[in-house]
Amino acid sequence: MNRSDFLMLDTGVIYFDNGATTLKPTVLSDKTSEYYNCYSCNAHRGDYSLSLKVDMEYEHVRTLVKNFIGAKSESEIVFTSGTTDSLNKIIFGYFKNILTKGDEVLLDKSEHASNVLPWFELADELGLVIKYIDLDKNHKITLDNVKRAITDKTKVISIAHVSNVVGDIRPIKEICEYAHSKDILVLVDGAQSVAHMAVDVRDLDIDFLAFSAHKMYGPTGVGVLYGKEEILKNIKPIIFGGGMNSIYDSDFTRIYDELPSLLEAGTPNIAGVIGFGSVIDYLNNIGMDNIKKHEDDLRKYAVSRLKEIDNLIIYNEESESSIITINYSDIFAQDLSIYLNKYNICVRAGNHCSKILKDELNIKNTVRISFGLYNTKDEVDQLVSALKNPKIKEEIL
Ligand code: ALA
Repeated sequence: MNRSDFLMLDTGVIYFDNGATTLKPTVLSDKTSEYYNCYSCNAHRGDYSLSLKVDMEYEHVRTLVKNFIGAKSESEIVFTSGTTDSLNKIIFGYFKNILTKGDEVLLDKSEHASNVLPWFELADELGLVIKYIDLDKNHKITLDNVKRAITDKTKVISIAHVSNVVGDIRPIKEICEYAHSKDILVLVDGAQSVAHMAVDVRDLDIDFLAFSAHKMYGPTGVGVLYGKEEILKNIKPIIFGGGMNSIYDSDFTRIYDELPSLLEAGTPNIAGVIGFGSVIDYLNNIGMDNIKKHEDDLRKYAVSRLKEIDNLIIYNEESESSIITINYSDIFAQDLSIYLNKYNICVRAGNHCSKILKDELNIKNTVRISFGLYNTKDEVDQLVSALKNPKIKEEIL
């Protein structure tokens, strides 16, 4: 699918590390170069036409993002530096102000560090209670287990849409529906979902969504914080400076801007945001449902081929996303990754920043194969053939 748009593929690399970041289509560098070469002025600060052009391009991307995730208004879309930044802004800018001692926050043990550590910090500060939703035998989150974890002290459920290791797609719509019936807010980490399936925040009824452009074929250093307008209007900035205030004076008076500028202090990643817009157009042209179908087919094919290999453990055969997590018995995960590199195959090995998942998998390190829209069955065959090499252990030693 559209492989010629990704120049890095010309090197022959087999790139299966799309969960970490994706390769970039040429539309991104074209659009970014256009900004740098033709109108590389600051945004929201100038009164000359070049600067107004930047404002127009930048704000146009906000509209594209709004439409891409089905948000209601542009003021619900805040540009950040990435998922981690978005989550920290939500947790410390919103939840810090509404939660109090003894309130319960529901996480689960397959969450990424970015959705765990800010909560640990806030729990220490406010005396919150962190609880974990049980995972089922396939390491997935089920609505029943969410219901079981909820008490009358639960105030927020903070979970990934798709786990970055187990790859399960969580029943977010059902979770939101149930949570809202109990006045519980739902914060969703969309880092591993937004590039792989259609995500509609209003249909799912998500309260907050965080995601990164670089995992969706876009630039590094750009992320999105979505919040429902009626909730987001109560968020407080945690970064202060230019671009987010309309008045301040020596007597400490200050009036801050409305959303979304309120949360975008300082010069933003203008080139990145403008480039991101070209990638959203690109994804829309392919169609998110087509991408999902392509990756689903590939996952099913890959799982069936990987099952041919003796000594291979697949941790998430039942996953529905583009992530397959494995180990080869007796071979350390990092060693397997280095071995595959000899065949120009990129996978990620380690704990994948999900350091408490070891409690569930009973193993700290795994090898993760994560697909993107350009991967093919032929590439999967090459992976399988490298893994079937009868001399695999000798080559690693
Ligand atoms: N969060 C990224 C991953 O899962 C870096 O690899």
